[in-house]
Amino acid sequence: MTTREKVQVREVGLRDGLQMVQTILSTGQKLEWCRRMVDAGSVEIEVTSFVPPKIVPQFADAAEVARGALEIPNLHAAALVPNLKGAQRALEVGLRKVHYVLSASNEHNLKNVRRTTAESAEDFRRIVVERDAGGTTPHSVTLGAGVATAFGCTLSGRVEESTVLGLVETLLEAGADEITIADTVGYANPGQVRALMRQVLAITKDVPVACHFHDTRGLGLANVVAALDAGVRSFDSSLGGLGGCPFAPNATGNINTEDTVFLLESEGLDTGIDINALLAIRETIAGWLPGEPFTGAIARAGLPKTFDLREAAVA
Ligand code: COA
Ligand code: ZN
Repeated sequence: MTTREKVQVREVGLRDGLQMVQTILSTGQKLEWCRRMVDAGSVEIEVTSFVPPKIVPQFADAAEVARGALEIPNLHAAALVPNLKGAQRALEVGLRKVHYVLSASNEHNLKNVRRTTAESAEDFRRIVVERDAGGTTPHSVTLGAGVATAFGCTLSGRVEESTVLGLVETLLEAGADEITIADTVGYANPGQVRALMRQVLAITKDVPVACHFHDTRGLGLANVVAALDAGVRSFDSSLGGLGGCPFAPNATGNINTEDTVFLLESEGLDTGIDINALLAIRETIAGWLPGEPFTGAIARAGLPKTFDLREAAVA
């Protein structure tokens, strides 16, 4: 039996997805979503975002969701934090995985978190200090750092590769345990992804790197293939393709989890995720979120008869 190469698919529907939807889900619904994702084979889920409830009311229950998620066996629960205060809240709850984000575009950073990119980089240094001072041994809490608008910005246009690479270096120097490169607004194309991600991977060496793509202009999955070519083996995606940044004009959803898993499995990689189970969860969530724009080719057309399910490593 040949062992297939593993690839990680990180679910961000509960964070990126829910930050854009009108309906506020209950804590119980969010945790049911997490539990069912884990049953489907998902290992890492960004379960919430520690932002002020007045900015994103959907995440008023961030602490409760995080606490509940920590009790789900086999789940690596992560949360997004936009600043030091958010990181303090996430650490206090006991999360072992925290994702910080800043934008390569200074304009987007100002809109999103009301400070410059340089100020946000400083904030990340303070978060590392806070994590290391927290009675936990350094790195017992994994601190991921994401560079948003890495392929261009709806507000400021072009983003130079050198800006992104400089930020990656700054974040690594500050102590990032993981790096995520994000196409927040769906501007990336495969050539751009291949070129940038090769350079990012040359800098990050052993530090894990993920890509976060939005499918705003239909190139999301093509960008996944390009990132695979460059050597990336970790991707964010959102069930039903929900998502988008509330602070980026015309933003739409992340790449769709069902379709992403289908693509990666078709490429011979092992996601460990059962697509049919995802489709069942999607139906439940769609029932909870009437009127929201769910995307997805596999949900529409079904798996091809020729698709070999390979009994993905789901318990
Ligand atoms: N969680 C909860 N409360 C927070 C907080 C956090 N992460 N960060 C700040 N606050 C509180 C402060 O304690 C302060 O409260 P007070 O008025 O009772 O004293 C108040 O919010 C203002 O604090 P300040 O540091 O001035 O924040 P700000 O108003 O400049 O806003 C952010 C900065 C980062 C909190 C805000 O812009 C934000 O949440 N952005 C994230 C947007 C987002 O979710 N984008 C999509 C994902 S990338
Ligand atoms: Zn996003």
